[in-house]
Amino acid sequence: MARINRRQFCKIGAGSATIATCLPKFALSQPRAVPRQFPKGFVWGCSTASYQIEGAVKEDGRGPSIWDTFSHTPGKIVNGDTGDVADDSYHLYKEDIRLLRELGVNGYHFSVAWPRVFPNGTGQPNPKGLDYYHRVIDELLANRITPYIDLYVWDLPQALPNGWQSRDTAKAFADYAGYVTGRLSDRVKHFFTVNECTSFVDIGYREGRHAPGLKLPDRQVNQVRHHALLAHGLGLQAIRANASSGTKVGFIDMPQACVPVIETKEHIEAARRATREENAPFLTAFMEGKYLDSYLEREGPNAPRVEPGDLDAIGSPVDFVGLNVYVPTYVRADGSPRGYAVEPWPTSAPRMESDWLFFDPSVMYWAVRNVCDVWKPSAIYITENGCSSADVVTAEGRVEDTDRVMFLRSYITHLHRAVAEGYPVKGMFVWSVIDNFEWDRGFSERFGLYYIDYKTQKRIPKLSAEWYGEVIAANAVL
Ligand code: NOJ
Repeated sequence: MARINRRQFCKIGAGSATIATCLPKFALSQPRAVPRQFPKGFVWGCSTASYQIEGAVKEDGRGPSIWDTFSHTPGKIVNGDTGDVADDSYHLYKEDIRLLRELGVNGYHFSVAWPRVFPNGTGQPNPKGLDYYHRVIDELLANRITPYIDLYVWDLPQALPNGWQSRDTAKAFADYAGYVTGRLSDRVKHFFTVNECTSFVDIGYREGRHAPGLKLPDRQVNQVRHHALLAHGLGLQAIRANASSGTKVGFIDMPQACVPVIETKEHIEAARRATREENAPFLTAFMEGKYLDSYLEREGPNAPRVEPGDLDAIGSPVDFVGLNVYVPTYVRADGSPRGYAVEPWPTSAPRMESDWLFFDPSVMYWAVRNVCDVWKPSAIYITENGCSSADVVTAEGRVEDTDRVMFLRSYITHLHRAVAEGYPVKGMFVWSVIDNFEWDRGFSERFGLYYIDYKTQKRIPKLSAEWYGEVIAANAVL
């Protein structure tokens, strides 16, 4: 389509009117739009996770994880997909780091597979497992990309008896966390303990859609939640005791990100209250080192059993908070004693390729603002944001994912609002650099900036990769 300029548009749209008459007066005197610039040193990165990209599940002494077992159980994963090969990043990691360099990122957030390092979850470490991560770190540093390591993205060693139902698993996690950080912290300075407790606990132990595929009663689910919190707390203590000085630690949560239905004082205040209450099982417990009375009353006999010292460990100060931000929880003020109501998710809201991922970029701003206003963390990283799209490779070999560009541009614009207002957001990691194994959805949902041809393992840059590269180069939303 031929481009039309403003003068032509005026003629087409307004008959014989001139620019001066067809544009509102103020438009002529407006300054040029200022790009939404981010602060110097802002971390632009990408995220991945071990089981979702590595493959090589039986190589170099890796032990089985609950996801190996679950994905090989018939009927659990779309198309019967497994992470056996995934993106083969175990072998192709240099190529994947080359893609990161081409994007221009200055940070890469990835996870260590616990069963590579401790094939049985505890006991004898497997040096070859950690060697792989040494190689990845060397390659990142050679490319001037700062590693941000996550110690747990759900690939729990299968050998641990009763998984997260057992309190001992939290202790085993702490030993693993202390061991890994003790060996990597000479070159890696940023670690996250656990990623999205709500996903691996509630989806894995309550809904049964994720490994280990259980549907436990409330009381047991609450106990599993507590063990996940405890893993973070004990893990944090072990990291502080073992890692070299200057090592920074936090956790990653995907909170109920409360967005006020209207930006008025009363609804904003309601969203702030809801942030604390609705996140009582995880984020609030991490930030305050306690379970809210309202939560304990609500759970009654199903409340978790807590041992002395647990909550102190869980509430130990962190250096930063990682937030995975995708969808909002809409909140309005009401006259109830708790002062707010949660609106149900709108059924007709625009959605991306995943049915759960509906589009409202304002969640980015409100997630940051509420967490900062309620708990005042010294630093926040957006450890994940991105979307699935119905990507297609054209005959010319291109993937024109204009919808993903639209999604990211909108979310990052709202992140800029938070940054511009002075909230301490230090960086943002797009989920994900490459398409990968999307848990129970297998390979049917693609989140990457690079398309993976799973037959050939070819990586094909999407339009969104080009766009993100420009954003990083400009350090501004484009
Ligand atoms: C949450 C998880 O951390 C990641 O593993 C997952 O693939 C993305 N978000 C998208 O659902």
